[in-house]
Amino acid sequence: MSDFAVVVTGGCGFIGSNFIRLLLRDVPGTVVLNIDLLTYAGNPANLADLAGNDRLVFHRCDIADRESLERAL
Ligand SMILES: NC(=O)c1ccc[n+]([C@@H]2O[C@H](COP(=O)([O-])OP(=O)(O)OC[C@H]3O[C@@H](n4cnc5c(N)ncnc54)[C@H](O)[C@@H]3O)[C@@H](O)[C@H]2O)c1
Repeated sequence: MSDFAVVVTGGCGFIGSNFIRLLLRDVPGTVVLNIDLLTYAGNPANLADLAGNDRLVFHRCDIADRESLERAL
């Protein structure tokens, strides 16, 4: 069971992927929901080292699309 969940938007970008890595490394028990549209700037390879980590969940979604965002949450 997790202590708390963190939603990160743009987690496949430069800042987001490093933020996710920091959270999972330094905050025990945290579960991360990464919401990213995978635009030209998004690259899943930025998180390749975390593949299979059961504390990280990815959902492809446009955060400007309210219905899609609500489904993700
Ligand atoms: N190696 C480096 O030093 C390096 C590399 C990349 C970027 N940067 C710098 O980092 C800063 C930007 O980094 P960043 O991580 O904020 O931006 P980014 O552009 O790297 O990533 C943004 C992320 O948000 C996602 N995204 C965009 N629109 C979205 C939407 N509507 N819904 C959901 N997801 C969406 C993209 O797919 C992407 O994964 C800039 O200053 C840039 O110059 C540095």
